[in-house]
Amino acid sequence: MKIGIGNDHSALELKAEIIGFLKEKGYEIVDFGTNSTESCDYPIYGEKVARAVAAGEVEKGILICGTGLGISLAANKVEGIRAVVCSEPFTAKMSRAHNNCNILALGARVVGAELAKMIVDTWLSTEFEGGRHQRRVDMIMDIEKRNREK
Ligand code: RB5
Repeated sequence: MKIGIGNDHSALELKAEIIGFLKEKGYEIVDFGTNSTESCDYPIYGEKVARAVAAGEVEKGILICGTGLGISLAANKVEGIRAVVCSEPFTAKMSRAHNNCNILALGARVVGAELAKMIVDTWLSTEFEGGRHQRRVDMIMDIEKRNREK
């Protein structure tokens, strides 16, 4: 599976840990940056990864900023994206099983590397359950559609 990853300056160390972890598991990683510790604007990287996911260039995305908040908010502005911040594996699991989220966001200042790997592993290995959850996800995506039609 091809995974897009993006981050701001606060998350270089955590990104390196996650990339190493995922490569060992056989995932193909596309790194959208930043790869500098110089202060930068997280919406740039949130949008890059979100557009790659929405276009099908990568199957899923992982975004990291200090809290995971700003970068996920930016990603959620791209049509077709359902990005969530997770700080523990239960929410990560449910965000796939019930919400079919296609981007996982992490806070580099919130979670340590080992917890982050556990969250990523859970998130990537959980399938969407469909059924009644599909209807609800469709309802979310319909909001986007109605906005477009306005
Ligand atoms: C950068 O200082 C910080 O604001 C950013 O990484 C993120 O936490 C924003 O939501």
